[in-house]
Amino acid sequence: MGLATRAGELQVSSTAGLSSIEALRARAREQIEDGAVTRTYSADRQTVLRLLNEALATELVCTLRYRRHYFMANGVHAEAIKEEFRTHAQEELEHADRIAARIVQLDGEPNFDPKGLETRSHAEYVAATSLTDMIREDLVAERIAIDSYKEMVDYIGAHDPTTRRLLEDILAKEEEHAEELASMLTAVAPGRTEKPARG
Ligand SMILES: [Fe+2]
Ligand SMILES: [Fe+2]
Repeated sequence: MGLATRAGELQVSSTAGLSSIEALRARAREQIEDGAVTRTYSADRQTVLRLLNEALATELVCTLRYRRHYFMANGVHAEAIKEEFRTHAQEELEHADRIAARIVQLDGEPNFDPKGLETRSHAEYVAATSLTDMIREDLVAERIAIDSYKEMVDYIGAHDPTTRRLLEDILAKEEEHAEELASMLTAVAPGRTEKPARG
C-alpha cells in the first residue's frame, strides 16, 4: 500500500478511541482557513506560529506513542520492529526540536506544556497492546501528519520559504515512516492492510 490517502481507508472505529480521520483533517483545515483570512505580516506570523505549535504537539505525542510501542512490543515479529519504533521515536523528537527552534526564530514560544498536549496534537496517543494494533495506530498517525504537513506547506506557500522547507523536509520523513509501517503491517498481518480489523 502506498502513501495515497484514500477516503475511508484505515478508518478506525470510535471503539478504538480515535476520532475519525475526517474529523481530524477538518479541524486542521478549519484552522488554516481561519488564518488565511488575514493578510498582514504579523497576523500571518501568528497563524504560522499556531500551526507550528500544533505540529510540535503532534511530534511530541508521536514520540511518546512510539516510545510506548518500543517498550511494549513483543512476539515473534517484535525484535526488528521494536527497533524501528525506537528509531521513529527519536526522529519525531528531532522534528519537535527543529519545529521548536523555528518557533523561537519567528519570535514565538514553543508550547511544551503537557496539559492539553493531545488536544493540540493532530494525531492521537493510542496505547495499543498487540503488535498489529501498534503498527496500525502508528500508520494512522503518520497519515494524519502527512496530510496536515501538506496543508501547512500549501498554506505557507511563498510567504515563508524557510518554514516551508522545514515542513517539507519533515513531511518527507513522515512519508518514509508511513511506507515502513505499511510494509510492517503486511509482514505481521497479511491481508489486513486494506481493511483493518475494528475494535
Ligand atoms: Fe515527525
Ligand atoms: Fe513519523
